[in-house]
Amino acid sequence: MATRSDKLWWYCCIASLIPLIMLLVDISQDNLGANAIQALHIRLGDWALRFLWLTLAITPLQVITQWRGMADYRQLFGLYSFFYASLHVLGYLFADHNGVWGNIAVDILESPYIWFGVFAFIVILLLAISSPKAAKKRMGKNWKKLHRYIYAASCAAMIHYFWQLKGNLAEPLFYLILLVLLLGFRILVWLQTKQFNKLMIPKGHK
Ligand code: HEM
Repeated sequence: MATRSDKLWWYCCIASLIPLIMLLVDISQDNLGANAIQALHIRLGDWALRFLWLTLAITPLQVITQWRGMADYRQLFGLYSFFYASLHVLGYLFADHNGVWGNIAVDILESPYIWFGVFAFIVILLLAISSPKAAKKRMGKNWKKLHRYIYAASCAAMIHYFWQLKGNLAEPLFYLILLVLLLGFRILVWLQTKQFNKLMIPKGHK
């Protein structure tokens, strides 16, 4: 069983900070290009999305490899998705709009792609708050129900990504294919456990 005392968990924990360190180095060297604020949004948004996909990949990996106890990794990558998404949102609030709440409200109202970002962020925030083991215990069955919203959040993040796209389709298409595979895996498992089994059982048997 994987635990936080594993070296691998700590390697993952530290390696996940590399995108932030690289971003800080680029900021300190004024190396973000002509539109630095946009570059900041893109770098942080991309990493929030990548960590979200990584979080979604843990369950299929666990099923395929039979490596039990990968929940700590799922929690780790989920929290990093929240971390990068929070920096992405802070960048929007304070680098883009200087914290002028009136402008922020107008921009959000006028930009439907941001509604999807806000929805995804609220879900990720709730998942992060409820991620400690104590919260899981306290919430009982509701914990699983709430955590299923990660599927809605990942679809919303994908729509948010596509909607604001200005050019190159290749990268978002790549993430879309990954999302279809990750969610498709769950649908297959669901069909097998809930429906195919039922179809196989002859009438009269329990
Ligand atoms: C309150 C919530 C959010 C706000 C206000 C917001 C804001 C923005 C803005 C303004 C852009 C456009 C950047 C540009 O000018 O090109 C953007 C792009 C993006 N956002 Fe968000 N965002 C939010 C939540 C999220 C979340 C939760 C995720 C992922 C989990 C995310 C992922 C992305 C991605 C992947 C891009 C595109 C980057 C690229 O072009 O490669 N955003 N966001």
